[in-house]
Amino acid sequence: MKILFVCLGNICRSPTAEAVLRRLLASEAPELQVQVASAGLGSWHIGEPPDSRAQSAAKRRGVDMSTIRARQISRDDFARYDLILAMDRQNLIELQRLAPAGYRERVRLFLEFGDADEIDELDEVPDPYYGADAGFERVLDLAESAARGLLAHLRNR
Ligand code: 4NP
Repeated sequence: MKILFVCLGNICRSPTAEAVLRRLLASEAPELQVQVASAGLGSWHIGEPPDSRAQSAAKRRGVDMSTIRARQISRDDFARYDLILAMDRQNLIELQRLAPAGYRERVRLFLEFGDADEIDELDEVPDPYYGADAGFERVLDLAESAARGLLAHLRNR
């Protein structure tokens, strides 16, 4: 099983989701054979580490994102990954547009896997890039909740 998280820049939301899920798998389901990665729709930040605000917020929760480097999604990724999880509806629309024929079903919203009560029935991870630090805490809260739901889904496959 291979999972790819996708956002716009691949420096805030998708690397956070990647690191959160990877840590959850290591601590609670080391027996599951799951590969986790992330990519961005845009090319602005290729090769860069995650945003320092995202890294600091994650570090306070014991999540290390320091080794992740931004990359841009390619058409090959749609065949390479079993699940391609968009952070927001605009990402979802873009991914469905880019997906080669036959691969659109692999693209879903990450928060589909979240607990509706815990995440106020929100279905998008809001882009924190131009906002305040609280936005990065919110990304982590949402990622931690949806990662738990995703783990349950992976266990039930
Ligand atoms: P992300 O946040 O999609 O969560 O990585 C963003 C990072 C950079 C930009 C936009 C969103 N940007 O326009 O450079």
